[in-house]
Amino acid sequence: MSKQLLIRPQKTPLQGVISVPGDKSISHRAVMLASLAEGTSTIRRWLPAGDTLATLQIIQDLGVSVQIDKRSDIAWDLTIEGRGLHGWQTPTQPLDCRNAGTGMRLLAGLLAGQSFPSVLDGSEQLRKRPMRRITDPLSEMGANIEAENGRCPLAITPGQLHGIEYRMNVASAQVKSAILLAGLYAAGETRVYQPGPARDHTERMLQAMGVSVRTERDWVILPAAPEGGWRLRPLDLTVPADPSSAAFPLVAAAIVPHSQITIAGVGLNETRTGILDMLQAMGAELTVHNEHLSGGERLGDLTVSFSELHSTNVRGETVVRGIDELPVWAVATTQAAGVSQVEDAAELRVKEVDRISVLAGELRKLGVEMMESPDGFSVAGPLRLFGGEVDSHDDHRLGMSLAVAGLVTHGLTLVHDAGCIADSFPGFVEMMQSLGANMEWLDR
Ligand code: S3P
Repeated sequence: MSKQLLIRPQKTPLQGVISVPGDKSISHRAVMLASLAEGTSTIRRWLPAGDTLATLQIIQDLGVSVQIDKRSDIAWDLTIEGRGLHGWQTPTQPLDCRNAGTGMRLLAGLLAGQSFPSVLDGSEQLRKRPMRRITDPLSEMGANIEAENGRCPLAITPGQLHGIEYRMNVASAQVKSAILLAGLYAAGETRVYQPGPARDHTERMLQAMGVSVRTERDWVILPAAPEGGWRLRPLDLTVPADPSSAAFPLVAAAIVPHSQITIAGVGLNETRTGILDMLQAMGAELTVHNEHLSGGERLGDLTVSFSELHSTNVRGETVVRGIDELPVWAVATTQAAGVSQVEDAAELRVKEVDRISVLAGELRKLGVEMMESPDGFSVAGPLRLFGGEVDSHDDHRLGMSLAVAGLVTHGLTLVHDAGCIADSFPGFVEMMQSLGANMEWLDR
């Protein structure tokens, strides 16, 4: 059902201390790996969002028992009875990843190593996304995967896997993870070259579970399994707040006059903090405090205050470290003086939708002229935005970016098809309301 989100011009500052839901990347990985551990894992503050719930359902479809303590609508505690690397049961129907590219690509790596056949499928949106980036290296490892035109559904049948040396041409954590996870089932060593700092949550979690994966310069290396195969220790993990979700209130507070907010316990893994660098480079007043380590990940509280922003250019490693945050960063650039530009971000075109052209089209409806290039875009600010009707195109991050833009328009903004926000950020609207934001769901 299509849900609409109404945003009124924000005349009062955003203020308050909030926490945002758990990290999506870590939540996907935690349920997958816990289900393969030898023993019972405890995962606190797990993210119950559309994408991660699909992964949770899939591991249950694979015969894994999960106890769920629904602490709140945005944080669940899970107890997962691991069945060992070879303990999954043959699924009786196709496994539905819904809109989740991460779920599908990582699960493909794990399912390629199983002794039973399986089919991975997803929504119409996911059926349009490129899968050759994983089916090619997995096939090179000996996996049997059929995918028509390089798109899902993926039909996987048992194969004898062996390690490979693989050079990724884009820095993708999903591709790296699919290969490493298949590598758990492979004979010999698996080596993946990454041309940039792709997020490293898979490596950290595997290390915490006793797998001696290591990084040597730009290579990630999973050694040959010990005698008898890898055995994963159970996880005991509290999921950090997702920096990609934190990015929306952060940008909102940076552009709504006189705002000041604090977001507690945000994951600050170096491979994820590109947005902090981008905002600081624009002159945003942003401080990190209470830094600490938990479960092998760095966490901290973030305080951001409204400031006069100026333009900046973003490229290279910062793009990799902030790829999912570029749409909301684009909204910040509309309020910054000068021409802001991003390059090296062609990957944005193969996310849930083509995030460059769709965002340009939707922001244009609010009065923003976003110039597209093949691998990025530019915006000349500061701009006076007007209200209007826009559409998320069923992309959660675009839905939230447009909602943040709505706060600085001079008129009402209506975001159509906004229910998808819950794919990564359940409770987004309520959290923004708790900061004083003028947005509400419209019942139609
Ligand atoms: C993710 C990796 C990134 C990111 C996605 C989540 C992950 O994708 O955009 O939202 O959890 O591994 P790529 O690996 O395709 O760059």
